[in-house]
Amino acid sequence: MSFHAYLHDRLHVGQIALEDLANRYGTPLYVYSRPAIEQQWRNFHDAFGARNHLICYAVKANSNLSLLACLARLGSGFDIVSGGELERVLTAGGDPKKIVFSGVGKTEAEITSALKAGIRCLNCESLPELRRIDTVASGLGVKAPIALRINPDVDAETHPYIATGLQQNKFGIAWEDAVDAYEQALKLPNIEITGIACHIGSQITTLSPYIDSIKLLNTLIPKLAQEGIKLRDIDLGGGLGIRYSNEEPPAPTELARIVRNNLTDDSACVIIEPGRSIVGNAGWLITKVQYLKHTKLKNFAIVDAAMNDLLRPALYSSWHDILPLTQHADVTERLYDVVGPVCESGDFLGRERRLALRDNDYLAIASAGAYGFSMSSNYNSRPRAAEILIDGDQARLIRKREVLSELLSGEMPIEIDS
Ligand SMILES: Cc1ncc(COP(=O)(O)O)c(C=O)c1O
Repeated sequence: MSFHAYLHDRLHVGQIALEDLANRYGTPLYVYSRPAIEQQWRNFHDAFGARNHLICYAVKANSNLSLLACLARLGSGFDIVSGGELERVLTAGGDPKKIVFSGVGKTEAEITSALKAGIRCLNCESLPELRRIDTVASGLGVKAPIALRINPDVDAETHPYIATGLQQNKFGIAWEDAVDAYEQALKLPNIEITGIACHIGSQITTLSPYIDSIKLLNTLIPKLAQEGIKLRDIDLGGGLGIRYSNEEPPAPTELARIVRNNLTDDSACVIIEPGRSIVGNAGWLITKVQYLKHTKLKNFAIVDAAMNDLLRPALYSSWHDILPLTQHADVTERLYDVVGPVCESGDFLGRERRLALRDNDYLAIASAGAYGFSMSSNYNSRPRAAEILIDGDQARLIRKREVLSELLSGEMPIEIDS
């Protein structure tokens, strides 16, 4: 689904012409649509209807405080993977009782802050982590609510870097060892078992991997019941894909349907952790053409956004649509590689795009709301972009552009003797 459209040759999101934002706030600039984000969240929430469920937005996809606050206001839960994300959700007004904490490497400090905040559950990914959680909980004099994250050895049919449910991946506890692991958890005095979790990957475009992992959970849950373990939560993870070019990912209603038709437990709370599918198509990265460079073999549009702003093309060879903010009928189209100024040949935003460009034109990189700003860095000592949230006829700055003095502020130059 796309949330942008041309009106009188100018690209708009809602009522706002993106070019006006670029002129006012400069580039590179991330722009998000609040109605689009909220609509996507509601699509998940409504799809599960009367079924006991909780939608926990995966904060890693985009952790801007204003976006988190919009989702918290809708009643969203949150899936976090670090103490930093916990701090963000609490600052944004998220309900601790709706926070699940995933990730293979939780530190003592992170477990401590999660338990002190009273989160819903820690999704535990190994036996050493389980023992650490028990020790930390004992020190605090509390019981730690946990789910074990099971690795179902299911192929999510996605890019290898974002497949997480295969045996060779670092995530979760192998499904063959799950019952044993729960038995160990039962013996730990400061552990309270509340659920089971199973996230298999990201940008998943077919339902069959979800069905396979639900079927596996159907075999495990009765075995746990025999051990006297009653689960409050069944967390099916996130991962539903979005349309970047011609993918046809299932809708949230289809995910809800396969849960309804396949999960035998119909009373536990089903947790879904969508990230990309909520914010991905609700965000654009706006950039300005610096130079048009024509060589014997190729035309390059050298722009002011780079792999430090949007890493996905360089990291996953991912494809994002690239659209001019203003369409020119009088300029000839050429095939361009749209590239950034970073000193890496992998620094491209799109290759072989047919565009009618002039110097100083603005471009929008579409589908950049997820894993865009949140993966951005200061590589090449480039300050990070500003972020804007569009809401009706309003566009508000929700993160100011980083300045060079902020980049240097944490460093402590030593005196260098000659
Ligand atoms: C545990 C967990 N939950 C949820 C997600 C969100 O995935 P997505 O953004 O594809 O929905 C991820 C990301 O890979 C994850 O690791």
